[in-house]
Amino acid sequence: MKNAELVRRKDAATPRGVGVMCNFYAERAENSEIWDVEGKRYIDFAAGIAVLNTGHRHPRLVEAIQRQLGRFTHTAYQIVPYASYVELAEKINQRAPGRSAKKTAFFTTGAEAVENAIKIARAATGRPGVIAFSGGFHGRTMMGMALTGKVVPYKVGFGPFPGEVFHAPYPCALHGVSVDDSLKALQHLFKADVDPKRVAAIIFEPVQGEGGFNVAPPAFVKALRAVCDEHGILLIADEVQTGFGRTGRLFAMEHYEVAPDLTTMAKSLAGGMPLSAVCGRAEVMDAPAPGGLGGTYAGNPLAVASALAVLDVLDGEQLIPRGAALGQRLVARLESLKSRVPQIAEVRGLGAMVAVEFRRADGSPDPEFTREVQNRALEQGLLLLSCGVYGNVIRFLFPLTIQDAVMDEGLDILADVLTR
Ligand SMILES: Cc1ncc(COP(=O)(O)O)c(C=O)c1O
Repeated sequence: MKNAELVRRKDAATPRGVGVMCNFYAERAENSEIWDVEGKRYIDFAAGIAVLNTGHRHPRLVEAIQRQLGRFTHTAYQIVPYASYVELAEKINQRAPGRSAKKTAFFTTGAEAVENAIKIARAATGRPGVIAFSGGFHGRTMMGMALTGKVVPYKVGFGPFPGEVFHAPYPCALHGVSVDDSLKALQHLFKADVDPKRVAAIIFEPVQGEGGFNVAPPAFVKALRAVCDEHGILLIADEVQTGFGRTGRLFAMEHYEVAPDLTTMAKSLAGGMPLSAVCGRAEVMDAPAPGGLGGTYAGNPLAVASALAVLDVLDGEQLIPRGAALGQRLVARLESLKSRVPQIAEVRGLGAMVAVEFRRADGSPDPEFTREVQNRALEQGLLLLSCGVYGNVIRFLFPLTIQDAVMDEGLDILADVLTR
């Protein structure tokens, strides 16, 4: 089967709204490499959009899923429960940020975790309002879209969105938004748009993912916590993209002095199996009545088995410090290219969550150069993802298990396409 033929069939059979980046089709994958149906090999610096911190088909995950396949694949946890769900909840409760007693509920997608975090926050506070940030991405469901702070392509044509959602600017020094600007705008929301006593939650990404890998300054996170404490608002950290070792810690919030009340997680939680979770303070998590949370597939046993293996692999192979070291190597390489690539405006990130932003000579965002870099890399067999409100950022999401030689090969291709 040829790629071109599959593209033709895809165009005829599936809607364009499911936008597809690559014009080749996957045949098989191993750790940090993918082979297409024509046998071409790609180095995978996309990792299924931050899902594969433990790589493609890690043998421990494959074994755990196969073992579970031999036992049962689905009972619906809310009908016939299974121990592995409880065991995974216990492990996450122990390790998620915050010292208070915690509870965890499982779902299937990141957006579903976000939806449920908002449901829980509303049930716990009895308030309707939610504040999110510009440039934030929280998913493609109705509330996910309402919270998302990027119009194209996520929100175009899909409104009206659920009400009582407000946005404040996310701090980003490069784009001229200081922590102070952001906090002043938040206070202005309380004066102009919503009484803080009507706000259930503030939701934010400790490092914005789709928004451009903008890292929240510590002073900003501390101030958000203080604002929440002052007004009885719950703080939700959306760690769907930052979680499970990507930032040099299991959760990005471990880099900060303060803890959220609720954390959403998905993506690398189960290393390629669909699983998401909301973990939070026990009394907050217990606010919704029995039956108010869950879903037919929520906490699927194959995905839970995979997630338990992910935690073992992250610990057993010391992948979190390894990821941080790989991130440093990437940053050093990009910094060394700065003098030869005038388009590089900034190299930033946390741990292995690294990005490079491109600008034109006049200082405006350069999405064309970004696309060129992406396309040239793809031609040479390196899969890169872009992000950023202006589409002018390349983000790096290589598996933390990537072999040194493959990482070096990827970095060499990157250097070549940037300097060509
Ligand atoms: C921070 C964040 N929240 C939520 C989501 C939505 O997750 P999903 O696509 O699994 O619904 C994403 C996906 O990229 C994300 O990065």
